Amino acid sequence: MNFKDEMKQKVAQIEIILDEYLPAQEGLQKTVLTAMNTTVKAGGKRLRPMLINETYQMFGGKGDIVKPFMAAIEMVHTYSLVHDDLPAMDNDDYRRGMPSNHKVFGEANAVLAGDGLLSLAFDTMLAAIANNPCQGEIKAAQAVSEGAGVQGMVAGQVADLASEKSGARDMDTLRFIHVNKTGAMIRASLLAGGCVAGADEEQLKALSDFGYAYGDLFQMTDDILDVEGSFESMGKTLGKDAQEGKLTYISLVGLEEAKKIAGQTAENALAALEIFGEKAWLLRELTNATVNRKS
Ligand code: IPE
Ligand code: IPE
Ligand code: MG
Ligand code: MG
Ligand code: MG
Repeated sequence: MNFKDEMKQKVAQIEIILDEYLPAQEGLQKTVLTAMNTTVKAGGKRLRPMLINETYQMFGGKGDIVKPFMAAIEMVHTYSLVHDDLPAMDNDDYRRGMPSNHKVFGEANAVLAGDGLLSLAFDTMLAAIANNPCQGEIKAAQAVSEGAGVQGMVAGQVADLASEKSGARDMDTLRFIHVNKTGAMIRASLLAGGCVAGADEEQLKALSDFGYAYGDLFQMTDDILDVEGSFESMGKTLGKDAQEGKLTYISLVGLEEAKKIAGQTAENALAALEIFGEKAWLLRELTNATVNRKS
């Protein structure tokens, strides 16, 4: 099977796992439950659950214990997208090829759907841990909470929004934004998979280095695609970064230089995988594919 078909198969397996952990849409809170389900099920690349599972398998993990962690990371990620699209943040009307959550359900429900997804993610992980208290699983849940929080994704989002107001145009701020708003959740996915499978400290450090570099690359290419991607492939309104005055590699160094930096960043990410040898082949393929991604 080629890499593309393999990815498609993995995405299909992840969709089934997500279905298992999403709540039924009933009760007086049905609207918010529907709002939560809608954006999770709207599609997406399922990159973060894939990273958890790949890393888990890379360290010999077998069995179902990784599944709640895969579902949880996609819930946290989807919450971050629902809130990212709100008028108070990026004010975006489309997500995953559909009108954004607040466009369909209203702003209050979109805030609550995000809150609901974040809490459900932790409930999902903790329920798994409560059934089977293991050091690896506890460390995995902690990695996700750190990645999602104010030392991770939230920190990056705050700095991203502040850069619109301040007009900051410097590399340190840009790196802070990328490493946190995107790198932290990608790193958390890798660490969670590694922790559940029992990876050691040296291996976790390499995963962390890879996660930050790959996260930076992923956000850089998102910013490049904001300039030259298509709505059909990306499923969201493009051209918004320039319109909103965001600090990106494009606004800092221009499109061509941004592409060069993306190539170098991919090299840095690949270097972090060296200690894993052949076992990291899928993470390598993914890194190479990300440099020229169209979606
Ligand atoms: C979008 O993430 C937000 C960024 C970090 C750029 P993805 O590009 O992974 O979005 P989905 O999950 O595929 O919709
Ligand atoms: C958002 O980055 C990263 C998140 C933490 C959600 P962007 O604002 O660039 O993501 P898109 O382009 O809206 O998907
Ligand atoms: Mg944003
Ligand atoms: Mg956005
Ligand atoms: Mg973007």
